[in-house]
Amino acid sequence: MIYKKMRLCNIPTFTFYLLKSPLMCIHFLKSKITKEHNRYFEVLNILNTLRIECSNYDTVNEKGKHSLKCLYDYDNKSIYVKLRFLRKVNEEEYEKFRNSVDIHCDYGMSNLTTKKGYFHFVVYMKLEPLYETSIDKYSMAIGTYHKGLLTWNYAEYPHILVLGETGQGKSVFIRYLLKEIFNVGYDVWCIDGKKIDYSKVKSMFKQYCANDSNKSNIILTLEMFKDEMQLRYDSMVQRGIYNYFEDESLEPVFLLIDEYLTIIETADKKEQTVIKKLVSEIIWLGRAAGYFLIVTMQRADAKYIDGAIRDNFACRVVVGKASKESYSMIFDRKLNGFEKGRAWVQINNDLQIISIPFYNDF
Ligand SMILES: Nc1ncnc2c1ncn2[C@@H]1O[C@H](COP(=O)(O)OP(=O)(O)OP(=O)(O)O)[C@@H](O)[C@H]1O
Ligand SMILES: [Mg+2]
Repeated sequence: MIYKKMRLCNIPTFTFYLLKSPLMCIHFLKSKITKEHNRYFEVLNILNTLRIECSNYDTVNEKGKHSLKCLYDYDNKSIYVKLRFLRKVNEEEYEKFRNSVDIHCDYGMSNLTTKKGYFHFVVYMKLEPLYETSIDKYSMAIGTYHKGLLTWNYAEYPHILVLGETGQGKSVFIRYLLKEIFNVGYDVWCIDGKKIDYSKVKSMFKQYCANDSNKSNIILTLEMFKDEMQLRYDSMVQRGIYNYFEDESLEPVFLLIDEYLTIIETADKKEQTVIKKLVSEIIWLGRAAGYFLIVTMQRADAKYIDGAIRDNFACRVVVGKASKESYSMIFDRKLNGFEKGRAWVQINNDLQIISIPFYNDF
């Protein structure tokens, strides 16, 4: 990586753009006129934000010496920043700087790391989502990340929890997953918490159940799913098979529980206990039997989603922008959200940012 030094001066944005690179500027102007997405625009935009924050945090002494040294490099996916204050500051000042950049630019950012006396962070540019699908008996694509399609190996890291506040893109994300599963014809069961989202594609599911006020249909569907899973598991054990993919003829089966929190919150205590117990049983045996949960909810509520349940979802996704509490409950760390179409994903303990293709065909 060849780092360049950030110019520390108070100049108008456009002058900065001109100084930065006349070529970049031409690309930038072209993208403004054609309204086309242009990587140069993003680079300039982010670098300008960085420059402004540097000016805000920098001081110049009587000898004209700056108190901040900021270096950057970029490729077509990310901007890499390294930073050192030349005046005495504690680590919090670096965190404050990083957060100021984060607040003023609408991009995903990594956390701070330290290396050789510098504090580093990465700004991730918007990734154009790939409108591709990829699924097999073990894994499926869940979005686009900086290396291409990000696949979730559900056989190894079973069950996915998708959190998104209203309008942040849960349904679009689930549609992408369903599209993949429907394409290959694996069984999907659906418990539709809103009673409307998936009713249009009812016939695509092996079983479809809308949220009902006394929860009897939901409980029945969960029981049927669990029984089918148990039946497969018992037959596997009889044949000395302990994982569904050891048998060529066994395919994965999915259960989508949409708006799990709504379902739980509208159930009475007794029904809640039954539903939670069934969900736990599916979680425990699902991995070996090849029965996987896809659960969505609008927010994380400690009352219903405790750490133990959460940890059973080896893949966790938060789409768009969510509350600080949701990020810390789902990922156990402080994160900022995005515009619609992007998400934080954690598979096992690996955290990534993804772009989600916008499918709205059902
Ligand atoms: N991946 C995406 N790319 C582009 N736009 C998106 C994307 N995801 C969501 N949007 C925009 O956000 C809108 C709302 O998304 P969606 O219906 O998926 O939200 P939701 O989380 O399911 O909301 P609710 O909780 O109310 O059901 C979409 O109609 C679309 O305009
Ligand atoms: Mg929705």
